Amino acid sequence: MDKRRRGPVITIDGPAGAGKSTLAKGLAVRLGLKYIDTGAMYRAITLKAIKANVDPESESGLASLCQASYIKIAGSKGNETRIILDGEDVTQEIRSPAVSSFVSQVSRHQKVRSYLTRLQREMADAGKVVLEGRDTGTCVYPEADVKIYLVASFDARVRRRHLELLAKGYDIKEEEVAQDIARRDRIDSTREVSPLLVPDGAFILDSTNLGIEETIQRALWVVREVLPVDL
Ligand code: DC
Repeated sequence: MDKRRRGPVITIDGPAGAGKSTLAKGLAVRLGLKYIDTGAMYRAITLKAIKANVDPESESGLASLCQASYIKIAGSKGNETRIILDGEDVTQEIRSPAVSSFVSQVSRHQKVRSYLTRLQREMADAGKVVLEGRDTGTCVYPEADVKIYLVASFDARVRRRHLELLAKGYDIKEEEVAQDIARRDRIDSTREVSPLLVPDGAFILDSTNLGIEETIQRALWVVREVLPVDL
């Protein structure tokens, strides 16, 4: 581990719906680390853009919005994380289908990415964090102690995301979720800035046929291989 940090940095990347946030929360709780949901930060900026009527294609409009934003991840450990945007708790609102359908467009822009990447690096510099997203092991923190790339089949990802949205009370068809995930996969992996890639030295974990607990156990096994038991 880097001696300048006070604790480990673990990154978890992968496509939409692979179960990254469930895994990241599970690891954070068990290892006593802070969970940093980088996607939630892109969602917060997207929510702000929708509310302020800023065109998701306008990089300069979004850059000004970023400069005037204050994003905070509250709740220091495990799964009690709240996302605070300009002093307001937007934890629920950023999960709406409206935000989901615009977030890939917003996160394509270099200026949005460099603003959020800098914030994420600052948060992680203290150590004792699990960073989760699409580029945390490749761009945000390539020197992380443990890098995990979580994958699952397209069908499994659609099914899980659909169940998750139904449980949250959204009336949405599986077909719509499939279209949204296919579109986000396409944008995330073909964008010019920080496309979704397997980070160098990452451990690839396929959760298609694994339950939540099994996925967490495999990831813990990887972490324990690299880091001392007492974090
Ligand atoms: O993980 P999520 O679905 O909440 O992420 C929302 C979007 O944010 C996702 O479609 C792509 C983008 N994102 C990104 O570009 N880079 C990250 N590190 C995290 C998310």
